[in-house]
Amino acid sequence: MDFDDTNLATKLKDKNLFRQKCFINGEWMDSESGKTFEIYNPSDSTLIGLMPNCSKKETIFAIESANNAWEKWKKLSGKDRSIIIRNWHELIIKNIDDLALIMTLENGKPINDSRGEIMYASWFTDWFSEEAKRAYGKTIPSTTADRRIITIKQPVGVCGIITPWNFPSAMITRKVAPALAAGCTVVIKPAGTTPFSATALVELAHRAGVPKGVINLISVSEKDVSQVGDELCTNRHVRKISFTGSTNVGRSLMAKSASTIKKVSMELGGHAPLIVFDDADIDEAVKGSMANKYRNSGQVCVSANRIFVHEKIHDEFAEKLAKKSAELKVSDGRKEGAQIGPLITMAAVEKVQDHVSDAKSKGAKIITGGELDNEGRQFYKPTVMTEVTNDMKIFYEETFGPVAPLIKFSDDEEVIQMANDTSYGLAGYFFSKDIGRIWRVAEALEYGMIGVNAGVISTEVAPFGGIKESGVGREGAAEGLDEYLEIKYICFDGISN
Ligand code: SIN
Repeated sequence: MDFDDTNLATKLKDKNLFRQKCFINGEWMDSESGKTFEIYNPSDSTLIGLMPNCSKKETIFAIESANNAWEKWKKLSGKDRSIIIRNWHELIIKNIDDLALIMTLENGKPINDSRGEIMYASWFTDWFSEEAKRAYGKTIPSTTADRRIITIKQPVGVCGIITPWNFPSAMITRKVAPALAAGCTVVIKPAGTTPFSATALVELAHRAGVPKGVINLISVSEKDVSQVGDELCTNRHVRKISFTGSTNVGRSLMAKSASTIKKVSMELGGHAPLIVFDDADIDEAVKGSMANKYRNSGQVCVSANRIFVHEKIHDEFAEKLAKKSAELKVSDGRKEGAQIGPLITMAAVEKVQDHVSDAKSKGAKIITGGELDNEGRQFYKPTVMTEVTNDMKIFYEETFGPVAPLIKFSDDEEVIQMANDTSYGLAGYFFSKDIGRIWRVAEALEYGMIGVNAGVISTEVAPFGGIKESGVGREGAAEGLDEYLEIKYICFDGISN
């Protein structure tokens, strides 16, 4: 194979951050079979590394290691765990250049966006290093004079952490930092296309002083993923599964986890509506839509997939959005000024092409983009389409690409009905200046998160998550810690005589 194992490593300031192994019980190791799978740069299809193709056997070893380590880890004080998570946080910030480069190479994200994601990832280590000290219980007034009642919160146990390729670092810290803070131990299974951001973060966690067995990482190719996924979901020592990814995979993981009644957190598909009302500030709405739609080339579960624009301002909004979209620089994420990177795989490109050609065949008009970019076979031009209707695939299915479909509407009731006409319920956005309308629409939209005059709303201090088929549970914020805790009620009798 024409591949030099040290290629990526030599580009890093700290070459030990490029780890092509899984991590179990405090040690970097290969799969027992010696089998590996390949990871390619989506910008130019060059091979960037190999990872062990783990099986059920390594998964069981990782779960057992996590289970053994849990005994000690859960007994540390919140403050002691907090110190270790804070060390991890500081190492992430210190190594931002290397972490961002690894991400750009395996995910394709423009280097500035990768740096932005490393900062985003570090917000969770920052937040949960503090929250580790705040797993508060309650005292509850008893109904009888001779009893006292309290609740305490205790760690759930071993958690299976299954993370996506679109935010390969932030989704690790958004799940692992609260798990560690709560006193849980973890087995991480990163996406097969982007494992190196995860191994670099695990290396830093190890250096930060996370004890052996507390964090484990197993890798497996997308093709063989079920042998690892099935074990994580059915092994009785795993008490929780936290997953970010598609609704279909989430549904299957939930079904498998039902066999051992695990706690689950599922952050699934989005299909977000973005509504621009006639009283909106159009320039602000264009700016918010750009930030929302083209983040990570549209490969974001909270990205707008249907942009509803009031008929009075539709043409002006469409023209301004198309102009700005056409100005975006589509390029290999390593190049200066890159704004739109490649789509993750050819399958992702084919899905975008299918949605666009289906919409075109049913009458949609492409006002910019609508085709591959010359930069390479996985680069798709930022696209704005008008005259999108509800018989098109794009109206009901997540596109996960840089395509902005515009739909005209004339009244509030109609647009709320259209926005809610989906089985998804992750995020919704709208632009308006009317305070009455703002409250009415925010309350009426059936989504777990609402952006009002804001295109990007992700933050560590607010609970991230969806309703309906977009998932269960919340990540980040105080709620994010609770997802890794069980409540125990303790009743004391015989207090008064
Ligand atoms: C996601 O798309 O999975 C996460 C996006 C975010 O955290 O903002």
